Amino acid sequence: MLDIHKIRTDFPILSQKVNGKPLVYFDNGATSQKPQVVIDAISNYYKDINANIHRGVHTLSQLATDAYEASRNTIQNHINAKFSHEVIFTSGTTHGINLVANGFASILKPGDEVLVSAIEHHSNIVPWQMLCEKTGAVLKVIPMNEKGELILSEFDKLLSEKTKFVTVNHISNALGTINPIKYIIDKAHEFDAAILIDGAQAVSHLKPNVQELDCDFYAFSGHKMFGPTGTGILYGKEAWLNKLPPYQGGGEMIKEVSFEKTTYAELPHKFEAGTPNIADGIALGAAVDYINAIGIANIQEQEKELLEYGTKRLLEIEGLKIFGTAEAKTSVISFNIEGIHPYDIGTIVDKLGIAVRTGHHCAQPIMNFFQIPGTIRASFAFYNTKEEIDVMVEAVKRAKLMLS
Ligand code: ALA
Repeated sequence: MLDIHKIRTDFPILSQKVNGKPLVYFDNGATSQKPQVVIDAISNYYKDINANIHRGVHTLSQLATDAYEASRNTIQNHINAKFSHEVIFTSGTTHGINLVANGFASILKPGDEVLVSAIEHHSNIVPWQMLCEKTGAVLKVIPMNEKGELILSEFDKLLSEKTKFVTVNHISNALGTINPIKYIIDKAHEFDAAILIDGAQAVSHLKPNVQELDCDFYAFSGHKMFGPTGTGILYGKEAWLNKLPPYQGGGEMIKEVSFEKTTYAELPHKFEAGTPNIADGIALGAAVDYINAIGIANIQEQEKELLEYGTKRLLEIEGLKIFGTAEAKTSVISFNIEGIHPYDIGTIVDKLGIAVRTGHHCAQPIMNFFQIPGTIRASFAFYNTKEEIDVMVEAVKRAKLMLS
């Protein structure tokens, strides 16, 4: 078992008070907190080796380049990509998804079909809608059931020779559902469709093995996995990344430029125009090392306990309903109390030092499905405790009393 109280000292922010109360941070689905090693990696870069990368022959530039490329290799090993050039640095999941959707504009034809799921974040819906508008392709939706699980028999029926692209999240941000992505990937491939997995919510809870999954693309954000904001990774199979056109033009992504014609750099640089977020990219590698030092199995064990305990404790509150009751679920609990707006509960519990997210969680189709304006979402990380859950449950009870 992890020594959670010791681990919490790795995260300076967790010891602070908010509104005069000890912080209870249950908004890890929005962004995770950062351990000191990540904070140090950022400041050490600026203190010791700040220089632009891939450009200078001078020593600092080479040190910075080495550190940045070492981070890419760390991430490659973490997700088990075959080549380091299949690991593209981005600013986050949204950037990665848009890069791929933009690339498919030159591949899709009118009447082709793109499948998304009913439990996507807006960032894995809107880019595909924009792609369909541009190309004349048709967007189809894999439906969900009352538990927040995808209905796989309906997915099977939607697949046809018209299906050219499939995308689903690995874990739903609003409900915590863990999707059966291996099944979905294999089925998509039976129909020769390409598939992207939105791993934004997954990478803090599990370790995706992209070769075993055999997905064509896997996009995720650094800030959800204890790394800095403004970082992310798009994994893509070499063949697909070579096939897609560049997303942005500029320095770094070219081989040769003349006014008549420009040729593009090899992977990964073809997709990394401009000076990247060097310090934070290096710190993302430190975050991945930190996760591996704690151990994914230990993280999962702690989060499973938090999910079970939090679910049991919250359900003691009369009138409380949990949205998202999938068999396969991670440490996210979305709930409402009958007759009370989620925003009102969120505001009161904040006064008691508790950070939860309220609203539609950038997943309006899910809220429409349940015919609710939003939920209160408590999303736990491994550094959270059962004592913190008790504090939240008492706060929610108090808010309920005040608002009833
Ligand atoms: N996508 C993030 C969330 O679910 C912001 O809160």
